[in-house]
This record gives sequence, structure tokens and C-alpha cells, in this order.
Amino acid sequence: MKSQEKHPILYLEVYQENGEHRLPLHTSVVLFLLSYTESKSFEVFLVSSSTQSDTCESLKNHLPKFLEVSHVELECLPPLVRGCRLPCVLDETGRLCRAGLAVVLRHIINRTLEADPSRNDVLALLGFKKTCLKACAEVSKWTRLCELGIPLSVEEHLRNATNVETQLPLPILTLEQRLSEPVKVHNDDKIRRQKLKQQKQNGATTLPVGTMDNNLPQSNDRLELDAALAKLSMDADSGSATRESSEIRKVKTTALPPLEHVFAEGLYFTLTDVVLLPCIHQYLSSVQTHAEQVLDHLPRLLRWYSRVQEVPGVQRAAKACGITLLTPQTPPPRPSEPTAQHSSSSLLECEETCQQLPFVGGPRPTLTKLKESGIEAVFFPHPCPSWTLPWEHLPEAINPTEGKMSDVRAQRKRQQLNNLVAMVTDLARPGNTIVDFCSGTGHVGIVLAHVILIENKEESLIRAQSRAAELGLQNIGFIQANLDYFTGPFDVGVGLHACGVATDMVMEHCVHARAAFVISPCCYGFIQNANKFSFPRSSGIAVFAVLFLSTFLADTSFCHSSGKQCMGLVDLDRSWAAEDHGYSVRVMTMEPESCSPKNNMLVGRPGQEREQSS
Ligand SMILES: *[C@@H]1O[C@H](CO)[C@@H](O)[C@H](O)[C@H]1NC(C)=O
Ligand SMILES: *[C@@H]1O[C@H](CO)[C@@H](O)[C@H](O)[C@H]1NC(C)=O
Repeated sequence: MKSQEKHPILYLEVYQENGEHRLPLHTSVVLFLLSYTESKSFEVFLVSSSTQSDTCESLKNHLPKFLEVSHVELECLPPLVRGCRLPCVLDETGRLCRAGLAVVLRHIINRTLEADPSRNDVLALLGFKKTCLKACAEVSKWTRLCELGIPLSVEEHLRNATNVETQLPLPILTLEQRLSEPVKVHNDDKIRRQKLKQQKQNGATTLPVGTMDNNLPQSNDRLELDAALAKLSMDADSGSATRESSEIRKVKTTALPPLEHVFAEGLYFTLTDVVLLPCIHQYLSSVQTHAEQVLDHLPRLLRWYSRVQEVPGVQRAAKACGITLLTPQTPPPRPSEPTAQHSSSSLLECEETCQQLPFVGGPRPTLTKLKESGIEAVFFPHPCPSWTLPWEHLPEAINPTEGKMSDVRAQRKRQQLNNLVAMVTDLARPGNTIVDFCSGTGHVGIVLAHVILIENKEESLIRAQSRAAELGLQNIGFIQANLDYFTGPFDVGVGLHACGVATDMVMEHCVHARAAFVISPCCYGFIQNANKFSFPRSSGIAVFAVLFLSTFLADTSFCHSSGKQCMGLVDLDRSWAAEDHGYSVRVMTMEPESCSPKNNMLVGRPGQEREQSS
């Protein structure tokens, strides 16, 4: 433990089942990445609710030898860590906690590169734009599938491997489907021309463009795989000097053969494959034993599984964490049997059509109808319209002067902060924990000075941290995570400009914790694309009306005419949803109105009693 000051600490969950220590898949995935990267930048703690001291010993086959691993009881975790779901990393300051699988994995890559910038193989895991698994699970279906859908469904399957219903989970089918889609990669023209040339040389095996994803491809994908593997080796440019013949060069881009998926994100091995490997490995091992016929539906997944094993370092990394990779028999193609493909592709289509709500005309007829039914946006009067923080007496670093923020913007930001802080100070009691859910660079939180800031965007949170350090503030905790990964208790939740469904997520989180909230919503149009919530949130306003109104709010130019009414109705719906849980909620307008075009503010208090009558 002497190294505690030097190394960030990585906390991983373990649990006990029938007297045996087991690793959840999220833990296995993190260990696999540590093993693959051979990262020694972390001190690792296995966390369990038991006091048993033999945890590390009994799991030692799953722990790469070079890691320094200890065991800690759940009760003994630092408070900031206890408030987060595992896995998480607590940095050297003990104030910044990164939580959630994708965030932690990306951070491991970051630390590995900081320690050894020559690790191109590790850098390549982040993908072409370094964005692999960066978009959080609430907004990206793909992140959600890999970070949550697949690990959870595999774990469910493993709990009862003979249960037919969990033997072919939907997330696995979705992945199988995804692997059949043609790949777009940056600058793929050259490699597609090489493929065309190869196809011409092989003559008979040429497939007309566009037909390959209907049948199992003729395992003629060596070209893609070689390209992918070449990228990983240092001499990534091998063989590129030869120019194609003019016959090949003249072919139009649109007529070139598409590229097949080699790895999960397309052509190249990335962090996503690292996440999937321990999950798919356990899944395939289990179905091979309990339901071999299921494998017939997963030809592409099986091929992916054997290709991943060809990536240098994967075999070694797997072995070091006690994963014995299989060589499954790829079943012969069965083009006549559409089962797997069918069920999953129709599912995807459905989701797509659901999102495209057609509409004609303006919102006024809807507004009028709602009004006739007695539903109208109501705004409570602001209780303290002229309250302001003593800005001129506050240290300079508190002032919102984000980079090159103009004077006007800084002024408006101060006005917005006045509103939020006024409401929060009214709601909070001494000793309360306040959580800022969309902290950005920490404007609200730093003013309040006794808070936990939660923000998914690392750059913003690090800026908030250095601002707080500059001010010498001691009472701020920082969490980089989706707010789903924050599970700690708190009393007041704040969110300034919580974008789209973020408003609903923050409200839900507060309601769950019986905490008061002050939220200023933003980007109402985005609620249409919500994966997580269905609107309306309450039973009071028809689904149609809320979605319809939000369609207009997607268009910002609309904001100044009926926009305020529409936004007010969406927020009215939100406030009713919280009132269903015994809250009293007020929708207000920030003062002065000009401080933001999205100037609504939702202020909610939980009822005193559990059973609340209004
Ligand atoms: C690691 O993360 C820090 C903080 O976001 C960033 O400044 C740094 O450039 C990253 N390092 C690498 C190698 O990506
Ligand atoms: C496992 O699933 C089967 C159904 O396929 C069920 O009958 C059995 O009770 C389940 N066992 C457990 C332990 O849940």
C-alpha cells in the first residue's frame, strides 16, 4: 500500500457463489485489457462484500502475474468510490473517480500510453478517430450493446445455461447481424481495389456487388484480415507500393466490392473486440456444452472469434487471465435457413421506423386541443428574481470565463448560475450532499463548494478539477461517468442545461434517491431519439402531443414563437411524472429571461411523508 500515492487505484468487483469466488464479466474484461496492454500503471483492488482474505489467492489464475492485486471489503471503500458502480479508478489525488466499463477501459489505454508512448498497438485500440466506446451508452446503441447488452445477457445465460430462453439472446443476434454488414473505413478505396483485383484473379468466385451480405461470404476475406493485421504491426505500409493495373484503377468507387467485417467495428481490432472477447468466449464455451445447435445461427460470430485469436498478443493476454480460447468448428453455411438473420434484422428496422415520426402542419392545433382539455404550460413566479451571487467579491477563478467566452456569454452564464444557486441554497440544509449531474467545467458546483460533480466528458471534468484546485476548495468530489454509474446517496441534484433526456435521467435519479432537484432542461428536440425513456413521462399528456411538440423544438428557430409554450408543456409533463412520486414541482422561468433561450427551470422537492397527498 506504500504505492498508494503514486498509482491510481483500480477497483474491480468479485462475488461469491456456492462458496467460490467469481468474476463478473466487466471485471474479466478489465483484467483482459490490463493483460493485453501489460499495463503496470494501476494498483488493483478486488472488492467484495465478504471479509475473506483468500480472495486473491483463490482467483490467482485469473490475475496476470505482473499485477499488484489486493482485496478490500465493500464497507472499507473510500466514500467517493462507494457512490459509484464498479469498475472504477480513483486517481492519485483521491478526488477524481472514473466509473463504468467504457470510461475505465479508455482510461487504462490513456495511462498505458502515457507510460509508454511507443505502444501503437494500444493506441490503435481507440480506433481511427480515437472515439471507440467514447459515446456513452445513453446516446449510442452500439456502446450500449457492447458495454451493457452483451455482458448482461451472457451473464443471464450463464446463470442457467440449460434455459432455452437465454441460449440465443437478442444482443448476441444483433452482433451477428452487425458482423454481416459491409464495412466503411476511412480511405478504403485502395484496399477495395486490391480486393477487386483479387476477385478478378480468382475469376469464378467474383460476387456481384451487394449480394455478399445475403449469404455467408465464401470465407474469401483473407484480404481484409491481412490488412487489419498489417495495421497492427509496425510496418503498416507493407505491399502498398505496387500500383494496380489501369483496368482496376478505372473502376468507379461505387462499383468496387464492399469490404467485409473482420472485427467488431469493421476492419480493425479495437477496444470493442477487447470488451467482447471475454464475453463471447464464455458464451460460446457454454453453448458448445449445453446447446451446440445454437452455434448454427452464429457463423459470423464464430469467425470473428477465431480471427480475434490471430491478433498478436491476444493468445498471450487470454492465457495470463486464465481464459483458454477454444477453436470452435465453424458450421457449414446454411443460406437456406434465414432464422437468425431474420429475427434480428426486422428488429433493427422497427427501431428505425419508430424514430421517424412523420408530421405535417404546425403545433398550434395541438396546443389548442390541449388547451381545450385544460392542459396548458404553467409557469410559477420566480420567488427571488433579483437574487445574485456577490460576483465582485468572489475570487476570479469562480467567474465563468471559459476560455474565450465573450463578455455577454459570461454575463448570461452568471445570470443562469444566480438562478440555480438561489434555488439550491433554498433547498439545501447544512451537511447536505449536492450533486451536479452535468457539471461541465464545474460552474455550478464550484460556486456551491460542497458537492460531487459528475460529468462524462473528461476534458471538462479535468478543467473543473484544476479550477477547484486553484481556489483551494476541499469539499468537491469529481466523478467521470454516466450518471447511471453514480449510486451514492445525496440530498439535492442540480443540472444546468441537461441536454434532451439527460433532464429526465437526472430527475429519475433524484426521485430514486428522494433528493430535491433544480434542473434547467435543454435541447427538447432530442427527446425524440431517446432510447431510455418513453414520452410522455406522466399519464397526463398524450404520447402523441409530447412527441409532436418536441419535433418542433428540434428546430431552434422555432423557439421564439410558440416554443416557450411547447417547452413548457414538455416540462409540465415532466413535473407531473415527478408528482406521481410524491414530489411538488414548479416550472419557472429564469431571471432575466434573456439569460438563455432555454430558460425553463424545474424545481422539485420530495414530499415530507412517504404517502403524499397533494
Ligand atoms: C490522457 O488523458 C489526459 C487527460 O484527458 C490527456 O490530456 C492526455 O493527452 C491523454 N494522453 C494520451 C496519451 O492520450
Ligand atoms: C433453468 O431453466 C429451466 C427452463 O429452461 C427451468 O426449468 C429451471 O428451473 C431453471 N433453473 C434455475 C436454477 O433457474
